[in-house]
Amino acid sequence: MRPLVADIDLDALRHNYQLACSCAPQSRSVAVIKADGYGHGALACAQALANQAPAFAVACIEEALTLRQGGITHPIILLEGIFSADELALVDSHGFWIAVHSQWQVDALLAASPKKPIPVWLKVDSGMHRLGFAIDEAAAIWRQLSAAPSVASLHLMSHFASADSRDNRYFHQQMARLQGLASELDAPLCLANSPATLAWPVAHGDWNRPGVMLYGSDPLEVANDITQQLQPVMTLRSEIIALRELDEGEPVGYSGRWRAPRRSRIAVVACGYGDGYDRHARDGTPVLVNGQRCALAGKVSMDMLTVDVTDVPEAAIGSDVVLWGRASNGEVLSVDEVARYCDTISYTLLTGVLPRAPRRYHGRSV
Ligand SMILES: Cc1ncc(COP(=O)(O)O)c(C=O)c1O
Repeated sequence: MRPLVADIDLDALRHNYQLACSCAPQSRSVAVIKADGYGHGALACAQALANQAPAFAVACIEEALTLRQGGITHPIILLEGIFSADELALVDSHGFWIAVHSQWQVDALLAASPKKPIPVWLKVDSGMHRLGFAIDEAAAIWRQLSAAPSVASLHLMSHFASADSRDNRYFHQQMARLQGLASELDAPLCLANSPATLAWPVAHGDWNRPGVMLYGSDPLEVANDITQQLQPVMTLRSEIIALRELDEGEPVGYSGRWRAPRRSRIAVVACGYGDGYDRHARDGTPVLVNGQRCALAGKVSMDMLTVDVTDVPEAAIGSDVVLWGRASNGEVLSVDEVARYCDTISYTLLTGVLPRAPRRYHGRSV
């Protein structure tokens, strides 16, 4: 069998969730498990957090139905709400909660007669300029929805464009707009993503929405005490399947991007862009071989990548290789660091791991 697996540490997931809660003891934290739990398996993550998290957040009704069909009975919020009016029947029968960001969704909700009123998070655009009502139109919609028999509880929801950034001016602009609206409406709030949960108590609301931090990735430009305690949940792991010695100057891989700067030993690892490993990874991208840091050497291929193991003489066929996560000797290679070498973010690496890398779950069961 091909040795590539994505090991998922459910104890680490629970640990990270508790860290999110400890940042914001006055808030409830909805665990964001959209995009198949950021690539970790949404149902397994929900099951692992079922005793701790009061609710889960997903992007769409298909993701919510997967959780319900898997036996998750918690409230599940659809962060983008319905995509067509007829989804309201499913929302009603499964007891989902919905974000409402557009007039057509308001109209559909006002025209509906659900068996049970639906909890709604009214999404306002405080500066992200993606989804949501403009700040100056939100109060009227809020009042309309408050009076609607189809609506149960109402929350005000918004999303930050740059809560992770060292430069916090735009975050504070968004916050000021939201505070004005929230005090006018006396609205319970749900604002904070992972970076705001970690760094901005002023944004903590009735609910927070941590996502990527639950999976052990540090979303902040500048790490803090809490982010240093995050534990990696996914370890993308494989093995060396071939080794060769190369003379100085010999090229490796497509277009010979890497050339041996000395006589070198090159390991071929069973993992490539056909598994979701980023093809943009630069030479030098760290890889752990037997728990020791080595460097990617040459372009990533579809099924394989190549690593310079000249300084790890014990590297052999079958040696353990960690592309990110925790090696058997405890050494951690963070997905954030790998992402920097790929000019991307941890989110794309984690959600990009393909089913070809089977998920293997670890951690005490709930
Ligand atoms: C609306 C919304 N809320 C919360 C989150 C979670 O964000 P993060 O993963 O940065 O914590 C996301 C993620 O994209 C989102 O789109």
